[in-house]
Amino acid sequence: MGLQFKGFLFFKKFICNKKLNLIFAFQYQVIMEGSGKMKNIIEVENLNKAYNGTIAVDDLCLAIEEGTCFGLLGPNGAGKTTTVEIMENILDPDSGRILYRGGDRGTSFNQEVGIQFQHTELLAYLTVEETLKTFAAFYNRHLPIDRILSMCMLENIKKKLNNRISGGQRQRLLLGLALINDPDLIFLDEPSTGLDPQARQHVWQIIKDIKARGRTIVLTTHYMEEAQVLCDMLAIMDRGKIIETGSPRELIDSHCSGMEAKDQNLECVFLKLTGKNLRE
Ligand SMILES: Nc1ncnc2c1ncn2[C@@H]1O[C@H](COP(=O)(O)OP(=O)(O)OP(=O)(O)O)[C@@H](O)[C@H]1O
Ligand SMILES: [Mg+2]
Repeated sequence: MGLQFKGFLFFKKFICNKKLNLIFAFQYQVIMEGSGKMKNIIEVENLNKAYNGTIAVDDLCLAIEEGTCFGLLGPNGAGKTTTVEIMENILDPDSGRILYRGGDRGTSFNQEVGIQFQHTELLAYLTVEETLKTFAAFYNRHLPIDRILSMCMLENIKKKLNNRISGGQRQRLLLGLALINDPDLIFLDEPSTGLDPQARQHVWQIIKDIKARGRTIVLTTHYMEEAQVLCDMLAIMDRGKIIETGSPRELIDSHCSGMEAKDQNLECVFLKLTGKNLRE
């Protein structure tokens, strides 16, 4: 399980012109330093990635403020996982730059971030507790295993084998693995996909607890309710590009005004911006 990075810039709209970026970054830093507000923990500058000619990420820029939950939304194949895995330093970009706390991602990066991949295989012959202990050994320092078991509501199943736990329990274990090194920055790629409403509520509660501890979360999701409940800021991606950014309230206000109250929600924003055609 790898990880890394660095950060700073951006406000609401993403301006991929480098000169403008520099001006905005400078202004932003002055404002932030003057007001004592939080800085960006991670920034993505002019990121590009293609797979055999298929463009997955197209000159993408974004910045994530420390201590926030940042949601990356987009249809299937929009490029969310590719973007996040480049931020995590799992994938190399074709071009572009990732800044973590204003500079390059150093060797300590992978000790400071937590990752929950969209797809993860667990060793079937290990128990939940053994899995946590195994991952803990990858880090210079880690939280006590009992603390992770408690944070992720895993105490009652700690002796169960990984191939005997439910989908919800598995997602909570994957969250536990992402939290084991007590990271400042946590990437969660579709943490509640495929879960029933009860299991999803448990995952949301764990994510709310992480937020309450001031940690930064980068979350991808297809659940608009999840984005609305958990995220402070959102970026909507389509075809490798960021097409809109803002808080859930800002996006709803700017795209759903004049609609019936029942239609004033993120689902409406999402469909309005990305269309109704099926994506693969
Ligand atoms: N390893 C790969 N090899 C070839 N093409 C890939 C690879 N990974 C992703 N792609 C392609 O890159 C594009 C972006 O994929 P990505 O997985 O980043 O999208 P996503 O937004 O995470 O989608 P989803 O919501 O379905 O998880 C898609 O066209 C996808 O088919
Ligand atoms: Mg994905």
